[in-house]
Amino acid sequence: MNMLTRFVPAFENLKTPFYFYDMELLRRTVADCKNEMSRYGYQAHYALKANANEPVLKVMREAGFGADCVSGNEVLWAIKNGFPPEKIVYSSVGKTDEEITHAIRHRIFCINCESTQEIDVVNSLAAAAGTTVDISVRLNPDIDPHTHQYITTGLEENKFGISPWEFGRLADILKAATHLRLMALHVHVGSQITDWPVFQRLCERLNDLQDLLCSYDIQANHLSLGGGLGVDYADPDGHPVVDFKRYFDLIYRHLKVRPGQTVHVEPGRSLVAQCGSVITRVLYVKNGQKKNFVVIDAGMTDLLRPALYQAQHAIRQLSSQAPPERYDVVGPICESGDCFGKNISLPQTRRGDLIAIRSAGAYGQTMSMRYNLRDLPSAYYSDDIVV
Ligand code: LLP
Repeated sequence: MNMLTRFVPAFENLKTPFYFYDMELLRRTVADCKNEMSRYGYQAHYALKANANEPVLKVMREAGFGADCVSGNEVLWAIKNGFPPEKIVYSSVGKTDEEITHAIRHRIFCINCESTQEIDVVNSLAAAAGTTVDISVRLNPDIDPHTHQYITTGLEENKFGISPWEFGRLADILKAATHLRLMALHVHVGSQITDWPVFQRLCERLNDLQDLLCSYDIQANHLSLGGGLGVDYADPDGHPVVDFKRYFDLIYRHLKVRPGQTVHVEPGRSLVAQCGSVITRVLYVKNGQKKNFVVIDAGMTDLLRPALYQAQHAIRQLSSQAPPERYDVVGPICESGDCFGKNISLPQTRRGDLIAIRSAGAYGQTMSMRYNLRDLPSAYYSDDIVV
């Protein structure tokens, strides 16, 4: 029995493929995160890039979370969805002058600078606007998060952040930047991190980096550890909520917080992944000599993660309990990478059966696209479905 079963009669009447969000699970997850975090007085900025749907943002906003944005449009969307500007942070390795100017005009909590050159640019744009701007500095801690190479961001070879060898220059630049105030030090080393010691190493490394920055007379009131906490893609029903207690306890034990400093985190996936599923219908079943294929009406345009990161999302057949059979579950796009799973065991499947691709709430809908001129998937929320 999985947690979607009770919604299946309602799914039968909806046009597939679509995203379905279990809002009760979302609220439970957010409440758990908030509860564990507030033991230590930590604050969260939800990473909008994981899922920016309005009902999802409403839950985050009502929990008191701020917004972590990575484009000018995300900043505007967060404001439109009621996040107070003073709770919005804005990171990106490539902000345009226009995006920076908008962020300055809205007086967001801070602009997260990713290079020394960017600090210069933000300073000039602040001067041009006749104001002083709060910034944070993203540091590159050179840590391997042991995750997929495309979502590794904290190694020196990655494009993100400022490396320790630049700290001398950073000090000079900050001193000269008369229109900036340094508010925070920021790190984010990668996403879907399931190896707990990585977070310990990150805290220890940030302690060292802070000491080094102090020796250059650089100090900040806030420390941000970014996001990255991974979820259980293999067993979403067994682990619907990640172990936030362990995560925040670990930070508390290993991060050296100086008097007056606040700790921030930027969770994305850990809050929204498990509450979302792609609901799709079987178009065809091809029984071959070597393999059987189930061809579904959702493709990589609806959920890109398997094609882009070889991600394995749990696949469940919702229509029958027939004896199991092995299938490759593939989409309709003419790309061989459009495959959701190989050699997957499903109850014997027929045309018209419903299938759920689980843990799709994070980086699912936000990464969907119109390749092949396909329609974008729609979204339904458990709160609106009467069962
Ligand atoms: N903060 C910053 C600065 C980030 O770049 C990210 C994610 C987060 C926070 C949130 O990280 P999370 O808690 O969600 O791991 N599309 C990829 C994931 C890209 C993550 C990008 N940055 C995927 O589908 O796996």
